[in-house]
Amino acid sequence: TYVIAQPCVDVKDKACLDECPVDCIYEGPRMLYIHPDECVDCGACEPVCPTESIFYEEDLPEEWSVFGPANADVFEGLGAPGGAAAHGPLAQDHPVVDSVTAVGS
Ligand code: F3S
Ligand code: F3S
Repeated sequence: TYVIAQPCVDVKDKACLDECPVDCIYEGPRMLYIHPDECVDCGACEPVCPTESIFYEEDLPEEWSVFGPANADVFEGLGAPGGAAAHGPLAQDHPVVDSVTAVGS
């Protein structure tokens, strides 16, 4: 699967959303997350992100390794909704994101 890492936090450019053929990129309050069971590894989202937040999980930089599990764990209890547009935004971010200090604060 591909994962979204810290540079997305508080930016949420959303260029990635237009590229995903299976609509598996879900919006949280402060960042977006890729559903690991719904992503088909097409890779279309990765080059369009202006903050270079998207990585194939095995290429995730060490400093952001926690975002691998975070992209999966944020869907705990939701299962595989089968599409971000139909499901709507996630009510909460992963705790890892909550701990990222907001820019300018
Ligand atoms: Fe975030 Fe980049 Fe998508 S900033 S919303 S991962 S285009
Ligand atoms: Fe979608 Fe990106 Fe996966 S475009 S299918 S989330 S690699």
